Amino acid sequence: MNTVLIGAQWGDEGKGKVIDFLTEEADVVVRFQGGSNAGHTVVVGDKKYVLHLVPSGILHDGKHCVIGNGVVMDPFDLVKELDQVESWGFQLKGRFHISERAHMVMQWHRALDAAEEAARAEGRKIGTTGRGIGPAYAAKVGRYGMRVGDILKPNFAEIVKMHTEDANAKLRALGAHELDVDEMVRLYMPMAKALLPYVTDTVQFMHESLDKGMSVLFEGAQATMLDIDFGTYPFVTSSNPTAGGACTGSGVGPRAIDRVIGVLKLYTTRVGEGPFPTELFDADGETLRSRGGEFGATTGRPRRCGWFDAVIARYAQRVNGIDFWAMTKLDVLDTFETVKICTGYRRDDGFVYQTFPADLDVLARCEPVYEELPGWQCETSKITNYNDLPENAKRYIDRILELVGGRLGVLSVGPARETTLRIGI
Ligand code: GDP
Ligand code: IMO
Ligand code: MG
Repeated sequence: MNTVLIGAQWGDEGKGKVIDFLTEEADVVVRFQGGSNAGHTVVVGDKKYVLHLVPSGILHDGKHCVIGNGVVMDPFDLVKELDQVESWGFQLKGRFHISERAHMVMQWHRALDAAEEAARAEGRKIGTTGRGIGPAYAAKVGRYGMRVGDILKPNFAEIVKMHTEDANAKLRALGAHELDVDEMVRLYMPMAKALLPYVTDTVQFMHESLDKGMSVLFEGAQATMLDIDFGTYPFVTSSNPTAGGACTGSGVGPRAIDRVIGVLKLYTTRVGEGPFPTELFDADGETLRSRGGEFGATTGRPRRCGWFDAVIARYAQRVNGIDFWAMTKLDVLDTFETVKICTGYRRDDGFVYQTFPADLDVLARCEPVYEELPGWQCETSKITNYNDLPENAKRYIDRILELVGGRLGVLSVGPARETTLRIGI
């Protein structure tokens, strides 16, 4: 059974937690896009692990973890993270693999990320994570990127030199600090050495695994509404976090995929800039933020919070072909007297959108249409059986399923591994 798992909203839906849960029955977990802009949290007992580049399956000894060709990998971040994973007591040798086709995020990409963001006028800033993601993908698509495979080459130092000089011309044009060429070579040589043992042809590894009948779990980072094609462009990330990205970012064909799971937070959050129709600026939003611990796992920024938006969830269901939902953070809603679901967007002339408009100018003219349901006002975080949920919580979930399509597969009622209910999968 090969499963693609993706985020259905604006990220931080709890993908890390659900991946960790599903890794139990997988053999290989592969990241297929994004980079260290991701922050995936797994809580086991009273220990909290946050992963940025390493697949969240790494906390299960013996499972293979792959950084696929679609990822942009910052060697500094990765070396730091690998040290951390080893310090937690998990072995990496023989089960961690990096694609030689993946691109590298270099110091100049981070510098360019900061300089480009600073140069953007108010209202056009993206609020990036500052991890160099946009410039690294721009380099990839522009065909002037550096690939992981470059570290295997005897002239790696020369390659770094050449790329630093090219990047300096861009930094100069933006009025940003240039980088010292020799310093870059001195910095990157030890990184290359540390990562060398893990670099391999992961396309071949994926196919050998599939041929042996191993079960693969594709771990999406970011989310549908941050997708470069389907998200709220230009307030998006620079990759395809939607299900299609699993194929292009790992080297398997669509027929290899048996099911798609969408991770859906039972309210909505967003970090960074860009439209967010159901955003709350009142005490309810504050309650969601504090009860949900809604602070970025990568940047620590407070997340913007709002009611559940069925328009984007339905859109995500279609764009990704979601079979099952993993619904998360039900417990965060436990205290509300009533809960709201956005069922459409009403334009200023009265027209109601049931689908997500492509044009942000149109979205700016819209107000969310809400349906209000009674809350359940009791604790759900200790519930281990779906049937024991309060009736109003079940009603809330059923109404969402009715509006968005797809089936419920997993329900999460707390941060810890143990607080996960398996339902239809
Ligand atoms: P990801 O980026 O999709 O992996 O999500 P993050 O790890 O960035 O953010 C999700 C946060 O919610 C983390 O702090 C998780 O520990 C936490 N979390 C996940 N599922 C639940 C849940 O069902 N209830 C609560 N209260 N917290 C959860
Ligand atoms: P996970 O995998 C939430 C957001 C940033 C910014 C925009 C572009 O943890 O869900 P980038 O640095 O990618 O160029 O920033 O995307 N963003 C995320 N928001 N969760 C993430 O990852 C995100 N990764 C990027 O805040 O608005
Ligand atoms: Mg996150």
